[in-house]
Amino acid sequence: MSKDQQLRLEANQHAAKQKSIVEQDPYRLHYHVMPPVGLLNDPNGFIQWRGTYHLFYQWMPFKTGHGSKFWGHYSTQDFVHWKQEEIALAPSQWYEKNGCYSGSAIEHEGKLYIFYTGNVKDDDGNRESYQCLAVSDDGIHFEKKGPVIERPEGYTAHFRDPKVWEQDGQYFMVIGAQTKELKGAVVLFRSRNLVDWTHAGILTGGGNGRIKEYGYMFECPDLFHLEGKDILVFSPQGLEPEGMKYQNVYQAGYVTGTFDSKTGTFKHGGFYELDQGFDFYAPQTTKDQQGRRILFAWMSVPDQNEQDNPTIKHHWLHNMTIPRELKCIGGKVYQVPVRELADLRVNEAVEHRIELKQKNQQFEGVHGKAVELLAEDIIVSKGWFDITVGEAARMVYSSEQKIFTLERQSYVDGVVEKRQCRLNDLKNLHIFVDTSSIEVFINDGEYVFSSRFYPSPNNESIQFGASEKSCFTLKKWDLTKIF
Ligand code: FRU
Repeated sequence: MSKDQQLRLEANQHAAKQKSIVEQDPYRLHYHVMPPVGLLNDPNGFIQWRGTYHLFYQWMPFKTGHGSKFWGHYSTQDFVHWKQEEIALAPSQWYEKNGCYSGSAIEHEGKLYIFYTGNVKDDDGNRESYQCLAVSDDGIHFEKKGPVIERPEGYTAHFRDPKVWEQDGQYFMVIGAQTKELKGAVVLFRSRNLVDWTHAGILTGGGNGRIKEYGYMFECPDLFHLEGKDILVFSPQGLEPEGMKYQNVYQAGYVTGTFDSKTGTFKHGGFYELDQGFDFYAPQTTKDQQGRRILFAWMSVPDQNEQDNPTIKHHWLHNMTIPRELKCIGGKVYQVPVRELADLRVNEAVEHRIELKQKNQQFEGVHGKAVELLAEDIIVSKGWFDITVGEAARMVYSSEQKIFTLERQSYVDGVVEKRQCRLNDLKNLHIFVDTSSIEVFINDGEYVFSSRFYPSPNNESIQFGASEKSCFTLKKWDLTKIF
């Protein structure tokens, strides 16, 4: 048996053996992509190909920690019915022996090409990285072609996460990097045929330009065009907290500007976080056949108390966000849940105009562990307005301070912790709760808070409160269990 077959067999056997303990976890999610066992991190190779959406993911099947990653694989036609596909990549070759790290997919001459980072560590812990290619005829089985890019001078071995696109008759690739001076950078490559690549220098960061002091490493870059702007999404490491910003261990956000494909340069503005919640990292987008730019992100952050999540007892860890469609409005990126998710809805409860001036108010039919809530035409003219889910996550808007806060009970020590943003006005809230995850879309997706939280498993309560008279309309749906 080849090393590759061996690794696949071991991963599948391990998953089968752990299946019942994993599935007994009350915190298993109902409609979010999660690993069958072990640890999931970044979305990889996200693409709609021959009509089907393929979502690959960083997967450690054997434990709930990081290590020599596989590419796991799910597919869907509609973001509602998902199919678990066979393992796409196992770290079996010398150039990837310590992990088939993150990367992207592109169609070429009717085939599916995936680019990923081969991570290699020697016995002394020295790292090397190779950008590798694998090609598929059917989107399921991949033939590895090995490294197509070796690390150029000027960067440390933290050089990874290739994202490839076609533009103006050429192919481009961005790579997340660290310069020899230990600055985070996004590096650009070009190619005519997807096999021979030329280093075209640093696109941004690396101690120069608009984001020169932005930490020591940029991970998972993604450059795309959206409604007249070029947007570069990446995940910088090493930013210090600044007011309400940069509260997580590492960040994920974007800059907008103009990419010149001739000169390979990118003029852009300042950095904005994509999500204000506790758990959001390494987002990746694709443009689908309807022309929508859709994003998935890993709903966690590296090195941020990952091992304290209670799901570890059930031998699994982490999940993806729900898929979101991106819009660019006034130079800002908005995120809205993809419309297909409406097909998950059952048991609608509608409350017409509600006038509220009391704490802990509950409404008929408005409770549950996997629900969607839509509060619209909200008016909080004085004081505060709040929604509490499972007595473990609370959203509160203060009209005096003009601050929106998400509080959760820490899964590390039970203490209440918070994330915040400034809001001129709270107009609407679109909330997706799924047993142990919450995603809050504020004011049509201008701000998003994504977080894990762990209410006691039988607590399905949803409570509303206001210190002074507040008004809103409310809709609630139960969301179908699809995983
Ligand atoms: C981001 C990341 C990537 C890397 C992958 C390894 O979370 O560190 O930079 O490719 O995870 O799993």
